[in-house]
Amino acid sequence: MFDAVQPDEPHHYLAFLAVDPTQQNRGIGAALLADHHGRLDALGLPVYLEASNRNNQRLYLRHGYSAGPAIALPEEGPAILQMWRSAPGDDGRTPFPCTKPRRQ
Ligand SMILES: CC(C)(COP(=O)(O)OP(=O)(O)OC[C@H]1O[C@@H](n2cnc3c(N)ncnc32)[C@H](O)[C@@H]1OP(=O)(O)O)[C@@H](O)C(=O)NCCC(=O)NCCS
Repeated sequence: MFDAVQPDEPHHYLAFLAVDPTQQNRGIGAALLADHHGRLDALGLPVYLEASNRNNQRLYLRHGYSAGPAIALPEEGPAILQMWRSAPGDDGRTPFPCTKPRRQ
């Protein structure tokens, strides 16, 4: 399901970000993101990810991501929130790129 809704525009896919639960809310996640974004910005790449809840979505919004559509899972489960961070120089012209329906 996730593959089918990934944006068509070439991008970096940030699949995982995690901090030891005993060390959360001390700025480590923000530091990891800032370091990673520095390398991706140098390559001129936009970033796409799926946020798994509204709490971590706030972190991404503070780091320059725009909220896209939610992915509704077929049965029980959290609402998955698509997020996009434009490439440097885009100046917000692409708030969220298009996704063409794809066969799975
Ligand atoms: C999300 C996560 C990587 C952030 O790392 P962190 O070092 O705790 O983050 P920071 O201290 O730099 O920033 C704090 C922000 O992280 C987010 N956050 C912190 N703990 C969280 C948790 N248990 N679950 C979800 N988001 C959390 C919030 O946005 C918080 O900001 P707030 O003050 O507005 O609530 C980390 O909390 C974590 O590993 N959570 C569980 C796994 C997860 O949700 N990964 C992301 C999947 S998309």
